Amino acid sequence: MINKINALIAEIEAFQATSLEAVEAFRIKHLSKKGTIAELFEQFKALPGEEKRTVGQAMNELKTKAMDKVNQLKEELCNTESSEGESDLTRPGDNIRLGSRHPLSSVKNEILSIFAKLGFTVSEGPEIEDDWHNFSALNFPEEHPARDMQDTFFIQKSPDIILHTHTSSVQVRDMESHPLPLRLVTPGRVFRNEAISARAHCIFHQIEALYVDEGVSFADLKQTLTYFAKELFGPETQIRLRPSYFPFTEPSAEMDVSCSLCHGKGCNVCKGTGWLEILGCGMVDPNVLELNGIDKDKYTGFALGMGIERITMLKYGIKDLRLFFENDIRFLEQFTATI
Ligand code: DAH
Repeated sequence: MINKINALIAEIEAFQATSLEAVEAFRIKHLSKKGTIAELFEQFKALPGEEKRTVGQAMNELKTKAMDKVNQLKEELCNTESSEGESDLTRPGDNIRLGSRHPLSSVKNEILSIFAKLGFTVSEGPEIEDDWHNFSALNFPEEHPARDMQDTFFIQKSPDIILHTHTSSVQVRDMESHPLPLRLVTPGRVFRNEAISARAHCIFHQIEALYVDEGVSFADLKQTLTYFAKELFGPETQIRLRPSYFPFTEPSAEMDVSCSLCHGKGCNVCKGTGWLEILGCGMVDPNVLELNGIDKDKYTGFALGMGIERITMLKYGIKDLRLFFENDIRFLEQFTATI
């Protein structure tokens, strides 16, 4: 009897099926009331007591193996049949996981769309630049210490070819090639030789705006900044301008917005000041207009520039800038913005 059981176990283990019908036939053959296993149980009853122990163990193993086989084959076949669409074509499909836009892209698009409402069109320029477009034409004289503000990656020395350190280089290209008046926003990726940390990276993103026309005044700049800040951070947002220095603007300022988290009361994001620094700006220095062939007695302009990472961090309360570049899906899928 043990031999019979072992032969049946081997048969069961070797069994394969390509359809649910074949599995059902197998179940009936072995596990039904008149099946092979039930028949063996009948014979088992007639065995002498001392044999019952060993044979009983083998019988139990046989029955479990047969039941496991049926379940396993049924599961496998159900999965393949439904994915091949052979069974129920009306079954709902598996959900496709949708990607989400990178937070830097959606904040960039949001900023561009705010400026679009003010009539600014998008202009982009090369990432690999010469010294003229990145520095000289922006009123950075050679050997001027202001060049040290931006640790430059060089591709080639004399003539210097570099990775642009700011999108202001695109302003120069715009002034060269576009007829006046100019009203442009220039998003771009910029490069600086900085140690990577939670607050700095050697690659980051900027958006710059440039407006050059007859009669453009500081009041126009201030109004544009106020509108921009309220659109981006909410209608209750206040701005303040602090005097600053950039070689290409005179006067220059840095703009703070009232902290949208504590509403100016002071919290750890704004370090208790109630204000967050957002961007640099100013009136285009007449030297820059002149260097770019624009009549400085007829035209004036304003410019402003901001880092997209910084704004995104403030908007979403992100504490570590490196997260933007790691592409960890658990981080990225938290952002569902549609723009
Ligand atoms: N280019 C500056 C930087 O990268 C940012 C900036 C400041 C741009 C003032 C401007 C501006 O257009 O007016 O640090």
